[in-house]
Amino acid sequence: MYVENSSAPARKPVTVPSLHAMKAEGRKIVMLTAYDTSFAAQVEHAGVDIALVGDSLGMVVQGQRSTLPVTLEQMVYHVTMVSRGLSATLLAADMPFMADRSVDFALEAGARLVGEAGAAMVKIEGAAPHILEAIHALTERVIPVCAHLGLTPQSVHKFGGYKVQGRAQDDAERVLSEALAVQQAGASLLVLEGVPSALGERVTKALDIPVIGIGAGPQCDGQVLVIYDMLGITPGKRPKFSKDFLAGRASVAEAIGAFVADVRNGAFPSAEHSYN
Ligand code: KIV
Repeated sequence: MYVENSSAPARKPVTVPSLHAMKAEGRKIVMLTAYDTSFAAQVEHAGVDIALVGDSLGMVVQGQRSTLPVTLEQMVYHVTMVSRGLSATLLAADMPFMADRSVDFALEAGARLVGEAGAAMVKIEGAAPHILEAIHALTERVIPVCAHLGLTPQSVHKFGGYKVQGRAQDDAERVLSEALAVQQAGASLLVLEGVPSALGERVTKALDIPVIGIGAGPQCDGQVLVIYDMLGITPGKRPKFSKDFLAGRASVAEAIGAFVADVRNGAFPSAEHSYN
């Protein structure tokens, strides 16, 4: 039996098929991180399509030097809080570092983030064979997967820092073939981070699934930012790909509204917030 939720959202719920329709129709997708109920409510109110509980919470909430110390338990805790602030916005949750240690562990993590905490999609970094296997296994168990390629923050030690990827021709070809591989494995969405705009455009055109960029240029199907970066409150230097939307505005609600509007109409990101 299907029962209508009594607190039905004012706008139509965002779903995986509706995100695919947005790509097909050339409508930009807006994604923003959230880590608690109050920010989730702001994100919901502004009409953001996807709220992401990113493991960036390790850095911007916990003050860690990387995302690696974030545990599955902590992800479940934050996803549960964020789910309470949302109604129509699709909720995506990061798989923490090493959730891909085995397919069984990835399935266990997916079951907790979706079944227990309330996410509608999990995000997993990379395209190594065992990750493709995990993407396939999760999608077979009807857990939609968002892949994450390019500058994948969990690979910080492998990359030797947070460095733009895909600048050399062979590296660009690698990113493109990884993108095709995650799509083939069953991913419903791709976050592409820290690559030159030309590569962001190439990957976006090559894939059927929506590509959400962060430092991947203006031609992606949508954009994502860490909410504290776009409010200008993350300590330290603001990343080039981000913009302080709170500067000159009176409230968090106005700032998020401006981010949504600028992504939708293509004003963000400009060349200033993109890589060559
Ligand atoms: O952890 C995170 O917040 C992310 C986004 C920056 C895409 O992965």
